[in-house]
This record gives sequence, structure tokens and C-alpha cells, in this order.
Amino acid sequence: MNTYDGAAEPADLAPLPNESDGQAAPPVMPLAELHLHIEGTLEPGLIFALAERNGIELPYADLDELRARYEFTDLQSFLDLYYANMAVLRTEADFADMTRAYLRRAAAAGVRHAEIMLDPQAHLSRGVSLETCVNGVASVLASSQDEFGISTLLVAAFLRDLSEESALEVLEALLAMNAPIAGIGLDSAEVGNPPAKFERLFARAGEAGLRKIAHAGEEGPPSYIIEALDVLGVERVDHGIRCMEDPELVERLVADRVPLTVCPLSNVRLRAVDKLADHPLPAMLAAGLNVCVNSDDPAYFGGYVDDNFAQLESVLGLSEFDRVRLAANSISSSFASDERKAELLAELSG
Ligand code: HPA
Ligand code: ZN
Repeated sequence: MNTYDGAAEPADLAPLPNESDGQAAPPVMPLAELHLHIEGTLEPGLIFALAERNGIELPYADLDELRARYEFTDLQSFLDLYYANMAVLRTEADFADMTRAYLRRAAAAGVRHAEIMLDPQAHLSRGVSLETCVNGVASVLASSQDEFGISTLLVAAFLRDLSEESALEVLEALLAMNAPIAGIGLDSAEVGNPPAKFERLFARAGEAGLRKIAHAGEEGPPSYIIEALDVLGVERVDHGIRCMEDPELVERLVADRVPLTVCPLSNVRLRAVDKLADHPLPAMLAAGLNVCVNSDDPAYFGGYVDDNFAQLESVLGLSEFDRVRLAANSISSSFASDERKAELLAELSG
């Protein structure tokens, strides 16, 4: 049922699911989700529940009024709502509840390993401490394998529309508190904030032994992907779909098997592509790129990773062969241990 009154749906997408009926078809291939912003899993129902718990007045009268805002024209129009809704996250328990809700839903989608981005600067700027946001998420991740069968890693993502100085300060604070982060990422408003702006940040992360990823080529040009690889030394590129405009870059990405964490429903909702039928994923697979499918901000973009697969199948006729290839790519492109990867790949092929 589409409860998003008044929000026009891109032509070939199913209605945005209501979170209460969002459990998609029966499980499912084991896979890894490598591109997921934990704040983007904050469902409308939880936004209202946390607002009530924390005595926060929302600028929406009810769920329907909030849901009517979930119509985006570009990345920035989404980011405005995404950051505004974070106002309800005040305590460790809030971050923990949000994380638990994601893991429960992800487990139903077949996710067996998840690499989860957190935007610490988006909380610090609201007066929420690093300890509160990091510990709230990490406390749940610590038992995710036992509770949900999902191994997890935490990635601190930095907001590229803020200064490198701010990012460096926050990275040092994370290191000083021994935050359980496996890596760093780069997200938020891409165009005008090229990867090279964060050269020192990524060098420092490398010194600290952290893994490196960055959003590039979502709205930004192919040259941002090249910069992320050459200047930041990233091991994986989030989105990367605009690589298809540069055949030489595609050749390089194929030769080096650079993982691209593609998010099809996100790309449609944020109008990076007009409709799912136009999504470059089939061409990317055909080119031999190391792509996988992810949900990005599932509470905002109409579905979790299984919903992404279901719509790819129905609109693009994704084959079983490609589904398995995408799942295998997700596992092999993860930062999980070799042992965990082997276990999940065996499960996938078994
Ligand atoms: N792109 C850039 N920044 C983001 C996104 C995204 O899709 N989601 C959350 N922050
Ligand atoms: Zn993203």
C-alpha cells in the first residue's frame, strides 16, 4: 500500500513500502551490504517514536505529512530531510534502537555481513557527543553476529561539504577514544567538494591503519572517481555510476577489480537516473565491473537491499546468474576476514 500521499512515483518503481509491510519476499541469497548509512535507516515510525520519547516537537503533524516529504529532486533535497530528521537521535539508546531495527530488517533481506557508515559530524553539530553516537551504534554491532547472524564493521563517514580541518579534528577524536571503526568514508554533497579536498584526512586514516572508501561519481563527474582512487587511495567507490561516461576509466576499474557499491533505488529517487529501466547496472555488469547492490538510505529510497533486487528483477529482468554474481561481488569486496568471506561464498554457492 502506498501511504506516501501526494508523492509522485518515478514511472517504473513500485510504491514506497510502508515500513510495517516492508518485509519483502522469502529469503534469500546471503550477501554483504557495503553501502549503508545508519541514519538513512531511520524509518518514519521510529522518527515519531523517538520524538515522543525525547520530548521533541516535529514539524510534521503525522506520519502521512512526513511521508509526503519523501519526494526528492536531487541529492541535496534528500540531504536536507535526512539531516533534519536526525534531530530525534539524542541518546545512546536512540542510536542503538535505530541500529537494531536495521539489523533485524537486513537479516530478513539476506544480509550476512554489513559495513555501516555513521556520520559523526552530523551529530556533533547538534550537540550530540561522539561517545553517544558511536557507542550507541557500536553497542548493538558488538552482538550483531550472535543476535542477527550479521557480521558488521563500522565506518566513520565525513561530510565533504564541511572543511577538512573539521574532519581531521573528528578523526583524531575518534582515534583518541579508541572508537571501534574499521575505516573512513566520504559522503554528503558531492558536486563542488572533490575528493582531493580530503587528501590529508585520508593520509592520516591510512597511517592509523583504517580502510578507505568514498562516495564518488553519484552526482559528481568521472574525474572525482579518478581522484578518489589516485589522491585518496580508496579501496572501494560508493556509487561510481558515472564511470560509464569515461571508457578509459571503466577499463581501469575492470582491470583493477575496483568495487563499486551501486544503489539502484537511491539513484532513481535522487534522480541520478530517470527511471530504473535506464539504470546503468546491466551495462556495468556487461562491462565486467565489480559491482554490488546496496540500499544506501533504505528508509528514504523505498526499500532495503532485497527490495532493490526485487525491483531490478521485475524492471530489468536481472537473471539468476547476475543475482548470484552481484552477491558474490558484495562478499568478496567486503572488509570481512578471509575466513568469513569464504564461509559466506560457500553458503552462496551451496
Ligand atoms: N550520497 C551522499 N551522501 C549521503 C548519501 C548519499 O546517497 N546518503 C547519506 N549521505
Ligand atoms: Zn551513500
